[in-house]
Order: sequence, then C-alpha cells, then structure tokens
Amino acid sequence: MKTSIKDNQHNPLDLSQVKSVLFVCLGNICRSPSAEAVFREKAQALQLKLDIDSAGTAAYHQGNPPDPRSIKAGEARGLDFSGMQARKVTDEDFKHFDLILAADDSNLEDLLIRCPANYQHKIKLILSFANEEVGGVTEVPDPYYGGENGFEVVLDLLDASLGSLAQQIKH
Ligand code: 4NP
Repeated sequence: MKTSIKDNQHNPLDLSQVKSVLFVCLGNICRSPSAEAVFREKAQALQLKLDIDSAGTAAYHQGNPPDPRSIKAGEARGLDFSGMQARKVTDEDFKHFDLILAADDSNLEDLLIRCPANYQHKIKLILSFANEEVGGVTEVPDPYYGGENGFEVVLDLLDASLGSLAQQIKH
C-alpha cells in the first residue's frame, strides 16, 4: 500500500533502519565536512556500513576542498578529509538519504523550505543526538569568520553527538 504524505510525517524515524546520512551546513567547507569526517570514524569503529556525505545550502564554495582551518583541526585529531569537494544540496538528496542533519537552525529552515513534505521527517539537527556534555547547545556554530578555537568547538560538539548517533543506528 502506498504511504500517504500525512502518514509519513507522523512516522518517527527508526534509526536502526538508517543506511545513509547527509550532513548539511551553509558552505559545505567547515562544519558539514567535519561532521562527515567525524561520523565516518564513528561508523567505522562500530563496523557500520553507511553511505555518508555532506553538502551546503549555498553554492559559494562549489568544488572546493574543506577550509584549511577545518582540515588542520580535524587532522590533528586523526580525521580524514581526503577527496572531499563542496557541493550544494540537490532535490535528489531528499529522496536518497535516510537521515539529513543540519548544523544550525538556519540550515534546518532552508532544508525544510526545499524538502517535499513526504521526506521532511528525515531532517533533524546534528546536535539532536548529543548528550548533556554539550550543556544544552542545539546548534553547531559557524566558525568561518572567527578564530581557530571555533574549529575546536565545532569538533567537540560533533564528537559529543555523532558517537551517540552511530550507537543508535547500530542497535
Ligand atoms: P560552513 O561555514 O557553513 O560551516 O561551511 C561557512 C563557510 C563559508 C561561508 C559561511 C560559512 N561563507 O560565507 O562563504
């Protein structure tokens, strides 16, 4: 039987069924590639075979590698950014990915505006899986115009949420 849009909206997402995850920020050069790198490591540690990618709501940096400041901070923690190239979210992404995770409220709103109603249940904030370690923070702050510490904060927040997400997908 075909699932109606209304049914889909009320379906809670079953994380144990998730096979693909897309991380989304504004430029796809700082937060979402970092999330992709952190989550690849968490998934690998749990031997999860997942399709993991990242994209931006804007195309400012289309085709570019991640920001050198993200790479520097991430590589110091053993993360791998090789082969990553910024791209903009496509309409196909809403269909293809099981879970679409936004870095901040503005990214979330931009995604919800574009996403067909029958896929909106796939869209959540990255930090919605974080434990109390993050002290109630719900958004991954944009580090682009700030100092180096902002890139460490991004990685700390991602680490606090994405290990827990991988665990929930595993079970
Ligand atoms: P991101 O950071 O969304 O975490 O990749 C940004 C990258 C570029 C710009 C803003 C935020 N920008 O304005 O070019």
